[in-house]
Amino acid sequence: MKNTKAERELALDFLRVTEAAAIASARTMGQGDRKHSDHVAVEAMREVMDTVPMRGRIVIGEGERDEAPMLYIGEEVGGGAFTDESRAEFPEVDIAVDPLEGTNLCALGANNAIAVLAAAERGGLLNAPDIYMDKIVVGPSCRGAVDIEAPVAENLKNIARRLGREIEDLTVICLDRPRHRQLVQDARTAGARIRLISDGDLSAGISAAVAGTNIHALMGIGGAPEGVITAAAMKCLNGEIQAKLVFDPEKLGVDASKVPPAEEVIERIKEMGINDPDKIYDTNDLAPGKKVIFAATGVTDGSLLRGVRFFGEGKRTHSVVMTTDSKSIRFVDTVHVEGGPDAVIRF
Ligand code: FBP
Repeated sequence: MKNTKAERELALDFLRVTEAAAIASARTMGQGDRKHSDHVAVEAMREVMDTVPMRGRIVIGEGERDEAPMLYIGEEVGGGAFTDESRAEFPEVDIAVDPLEGTNLCALGANNAIAVLAAAERGGLLNAPDIYMDKIVVGPSCRGAVDIEAPVAENLKNIARRLGREIEDLTVICLDRPRHRQLVQDARTAGARIRLISDGDLSAGISAAVAGTNIHALMGIGGAPEGVITAAAMKCLNGEIQAKLVFDPEKLGVDASKVPPAEEVIERIKEMGINDPDKIYDTNDLAPGKKVIFAATGVTDGSLLRGVRFFGEGKRTHSVVMTTDSKSIRFVDTVHVEGGPDAVIRF
């Protein structure tokens, strides 16, 4: 990406992309079919993505080429409607997508499903493997105050000090999984309040970095791809993520037969350019890009974004679009009018 203007324009193009994915999946809300919800989000995202004037490359997507027909890792996207000559002028962009983050949430009509993507110049986003990642995410006031290897109580003490409150006044958000039994126990013993969520640690991490959401930290193990997209958001929000890949069945709280052997995973991630499987990643390791764009649109209602609303003459979406360069955080309320010249637009 060459300049701020191009970045700003791309940001608005990416807004159209997440809006389309959110609208498509929101139509399936509560139908109990997570795969279908995801599928329609992927299709809609891919279609609009191709209209964006860029030479895009998917670095985090729906899977490897042989397992995902669209938005697979390495797929080239964008510039579909343009000539080869004009395409040559378009910026080269790496893109991480999650067309429907919280497939179960959408299928059940539960809160906090979002359509989301992050983009950066070539090499600006870590090509993270689709395995688990331990994460701690905090907002700007707590940057530098946490250490993913420190005991939970110590991190909570430091977060509380930075926020000028007691540990009892903190809310920690965490995926409700057996693997987090000890983490939750430690946070409870330290006195923090805990919000256990069934899915969606990406939007939860973003909430932790936005003051006023009443979430002060995200802790625990979720997907590594979600960790990279969270890092892109942290770059724009001045928050912090620390993370570590996890493939040890004991840490994942599962039987060894349920996950690929560690040696296999280590070999696979080496092929992706990750030589130290125990590396601790910070925000910049996960999203090293200098020009990062993040866009997300609510699918179902959430703590930061409202879900898609449908009405006779159109639909209404609520999104956030952020860029590192312009340091603008835009909350965008879009009315997509379909009703012709007599359509009534409501405030
Ligand atoms: P999907 O949108 O792919 O269903 O992922 C939802 C999610 O809850 C993520 O937010 C989280 O990082 C991951 O799944 C946790 O994985 P698991 O459900 O295997 O614990």
